[in-house]
Amino acid sequence: MPETLRLLADPNGIKTAAALLRAGGLVAFPTETVYGLGGDATSDLAVARIFEAKGRPRFNPLIAHVPDLAAAERLALFDDRARAVAAAFWPGPLTLVLPLRADAGLSPLVTAELPTVAIRVPAHPVAQALLRAFGGPLAAPSANPSGKISPTRADHVLAGLDGRIEAVVDGGACAVGVESTILGLDGPPSLLRPGGVPVEALEALLGPIAAGGDAAKPNAPGQLLSHYAPGAAVRLNADAPRPREVRLGFGPGAADLNLSPTGDLVQAAATLFHLLRQADALAGPGGTIAIAPIPETGLGRAINDRLRRAAAPRG
Ligand code: TXA
Ligand code: MG
Repeated sequence: MPETLRLLADPNGIKTAAALLRAGGLVAFPTETVYGLGGDATSDLAVARIFEAKGRPRFNPLIAHVPDLAAAERLALFDDRARAVAAAFWPGPLTLVLPLRADAGLSPLVTAELPTVAIRVPAHPVAQALLRAFGGPLAAPSANPSGKISPTRADHVLAGLDGRIEAVVDGGACAVGVESTILGLDGPPSLLRPGGVPVEALEALLGPIAAGGDAAKPNAPGQLLSHYAPGAAVRLNADAPRPREVRLGFGPGAADLNLSPTGDLVQAAATLFHLLRQADALAGPGGTIAIAPIPETGLGRAINDRLRRAAAPRG
């Protein structure tokens, strides 16, 4: 394949991107969480190409992205609970897993033949414009090679996928910086992945939410142990640096790089993947990144989840 096009996030760029998608091509685009690798969710071929481009080892189910609740209701069955959550958090960094409609028309590769479907309505204006111009659901996992750090800038996408996809729409840096929270609502509410919407905010609406997912039998790549992996080794909860380590700090204090000098978890999430890439480059092959402790509250849960996987033994 020729070099990947870098498209501007203007009406012309969106038009070109939508045309490439309609022709079965793959186009990475910005959302407020991370860049997604988009393909026509109704096309077996386009969805199969997503797995191929990412080098995903298995056909895990993907998130179907739509512009609004009306489009979401054409794919899944919503009860009052699901509508209330959608009204409160869409558009935004939340994915709902709901019973799949028999007439949804999605490629079975999107749902991995599960009776449920994961749906997201992103808030990013470029994602919204692209979804409306394309006019159908887009399957979009994070736009990075499988197991590697998720992309929060167009340059990150090209660093991993240049020459493997048709285009990337450059919408600048992602504001949230960690993937969407995944909430299972096909039964009692269950947290399938912590993410951009803090679980505390969901519990305020729904009451207590059980931790979902089974790490022994992952159905979400976010549930695989090693994931978001930099090249360097990662040491967590590092209070004191050791010689030659690259220190990634949080809050005041000496550090080579800092997720948030003021200890702001929103800022830390927004810069997490970018600073992990920078720390990786500084550490070099065989090096170690030492990461300061991050509080396990609000977006800190999503940050710690990603960091635990970045530090996990590589499989
Ligand atoms: O923020 C995000 O969610 C980003 C942006 C691009 O929207 N997308 C993303 O997609 O993170 P991906 O493919 O990396 O993660 C989708 C997750 C996977 O862990 C997958 O297993 C889970 O959603 N998933 C999809 N369908 C599911 C289902 N029916 N039941 C349970 N989990 C499901
Ligand atoms: Mg991913």
